[in-house]
Amino acid sequence: PRSITVQDLQEMKERQEPIAMLTAYDYPSALAHRSAKVDISLIGDSLANVALGHPTTQQLDIDAMVHHCAAVSRGVNDPILSHPSLPPTPLIIADLPFGIAQLPLEAAVPAALDVVRKGRLHGLKIEGGREVIPLISHLTSFGTAVMAHIGLQPQRFSSASALSLQARTAVEAIELLDEALALEEAGAFAMLIECVPGRVAAEVTKRLRIPTIGIGAGKGTDGQVLVQDDILGEINSPLSLLRVLEAQEQGGESPSSSLLPKPSAPTTPRFVRNFAMQATGTTGGAVRVAAVQAYVKAVKERTYPNDEEGYKMKREEWAALKA
Ligand code: KIV
Ligand code: NA
Repeated sequence: PRSITVQDLQEMKERQEPIAMLTAYDYPSALAHRSAKVDISLIGDSLANVALGHPTTQQLDIDAMVHHCAAVSRGVNDPILSHPSLPPTPLIIADLPFGIAQLPLEAAVPAALDVVRKGRLHGLKIEGGREVIPLISHLTSFGTAVMAHIGLQPQRFSSASALSLQARTAVEAIELLDEALALEEAGAFAMLIECVPGRVAAEVTKRLRIPTIGIGAGKGTDGQVLVQDDILGEINSPLSLLRVLEAQEQGGESPSSSLLPKPSAPTTPRFVRNFAMQATGTTGGAVRVAAVQAYVKAVKERTYPNDEEGYKMKREEWAALKA
């Protein structure tokens, strides 16, 4: 099948069909995207936090990003699922890893194009405001598709206000809108808006010609994006693992409670919905932990494998072996 194009996304905005974007980090998650007709698969640099255990996205290595991009691409473009009658495959983009946009343009451009080529991507997402305009202009003027990313920018975690709601005041909202217009002018094909008041994101959406994709930005954007681990309720922090272990103690004094730091604030942002729980009554993380625990228990009790879970030798071969 063909893939979703930038033009398709533009037309979706025009006919007001919501755009569904989701992160993917590996082959199975890419297959899940195909199953659900996701419009845009993002190899987000959230990969660093949720799949690789780094404290921030600044630690993500470029080669690690490329490695995961290629796995997603193999899932999205699996030859067994290549029949032309199947629905179009998602547009595949990745975050430009931290450290590339910070290079001088002459170094940043080839490094960015390398990620696209080696990761087998349709384009990139680049976090930032006016400071990334030269890079975005250069890439898009030579035909590389770039999604801009404004509002909350996780790569800027080190600034105190960076990881909270953005564009809260009228002045900040006007600055966000100006930034969005400048990035559209620079050639971005879409605008990701993270963690801003819904009314501000809706206003930006109205003023822009290109589609907007929101996360924690209300219902007024042209599309939505979430992190796949979040919608699955995956266990990707030690705190959430401790919480599951505690819950399993079922009232008895938990051996882990003394270890468990009590989080002062909820660790899940309010815009995250646990769709696994909603759809199946359980979560990806709970299933994974339960399966591993059951496997270990069965091995220890010698209830795994049973007679059917193995292979037999023909009686005469066994006799010959014993002889
Ligand atoms: O890295 C990421 O997952 C993102 C999102 C906007 C979800 O950038
Ligand atoms: Na990201």
